[in-house]
Amino acid sequence: MQPETQTERDVQLRRLTTLGLGGTPQRYYRPASVPELRRCIRDCERAGRPWRVLGGGSNLLVDDGELPYAVVHIAAPVFDWITPTEGDKLRVGAGVRTARLLTFCRDNGLGGLEFLAGLPGTVGGAVAGNAGAWGCQICQPLCRVLLLRRDGQHVQLTPDRLDFGYRWSGLEQAVVTEVEFGLEPRDSKLIAAQMAEHAAARAERHPAGIASAGCIFKNPPGDSAGRLLDECGMKGVRVGDAEVSGMHANFILNRGSATAADVLTLVGRMRRAVRERFGIELELEVRHWASRTRVA
Ligand code: EPU
Repeated sequence: MQPETQTERDVQLRRLTTLGLGGTPQRYYRPASVPELRRCIRDCERAGRPWRVLGGGSNLLVDDGELPYAVVHIAAPVFDWITPTEGDKLRVGAGVRTARLLTFCRDNGLGGLEFLAGLPGTVGGAVAGNAGAWGCQICQPLCRVLLLRRDGQHVQLTPDRLDFGYRWSGLEQAVVTEVEFGLEPRDSKLIAAQMAEHAAARAERHPAGIASAGCIFKNPPGDSAGRLLDECGMKGVRVGDAEVSGMHANFILNRGSATAADVLTLVGRMRRAVRERFGIELELEVRHWASRTRVA
């Protein structure tokens, strides 16, 4: 028998996000199967309760306190599977950690996803945010996405039917349950070497081992938000326990007990500095889950 959906009222999202921030959603669901997931969404829709989807929590800035929406967490074992199919394709559950997927690809000689090395989070979250690095984006090797739409329909789409852009998939109001990648046979040693190269380049540029949500702003066209913020002297600027990394100025670190308000104040200062100096309006790259309709 399938285990029941876990539904809780006092889950702190700070425990489920890499930035270590976030209060308590109205309801927390951790569905144990796709039918259960459909039921959670149906309950929310019928109750007129807004809902959000949580994957690995690595690209989120969540407000503190009581949050006026439900959270559907794609983390049960039923979403954590990888199945090779014909023609060097891989079907992958949305809850699979990107690190586990990469280990599988390396061990089975399947190339095409090496650029993800060192990226935290889950496959569902990576597709929903069209994660990328080193000039590649996860939508490129994608063949199919299975989505549960808010009307309860489970649909299969090819990437040309989706609206992928820079860190954007257009999948805001749907849940990715499964994806299929088209990969290519490659020597495991070469895959391992390329992954190690990417991971090393990342370790050189980006802070690790301290709570953060990756790059906080999108890069403006043709430039780097990190470079602009660095030129504005933002490295090391601190509000409470929220601090701009001394290694990369587009990263905000949680030095221990930062609040969402600390991070949002810092975000405002960073934005203002770049606006005043360069006349460029930085756009958030992380998703802000506000406690009100206000958006950072
Ligand atoms: N730079 C500075 N100072 C800084 C940061 C960067 O001068 O504080 C300069 C660097 O020296 C380099 C340029 O800016 O010349 C670009 O920096 P980097 O190579 O670190 O890349 P990025 O544009 O800051 C982007 C993505 C990263 C991704 C890397 C590698 C965005 C917002 N960021 O960073 O993605 O890992 O390229 O491909 O698109 C993320 O999405 O969370 C993320 C970290």
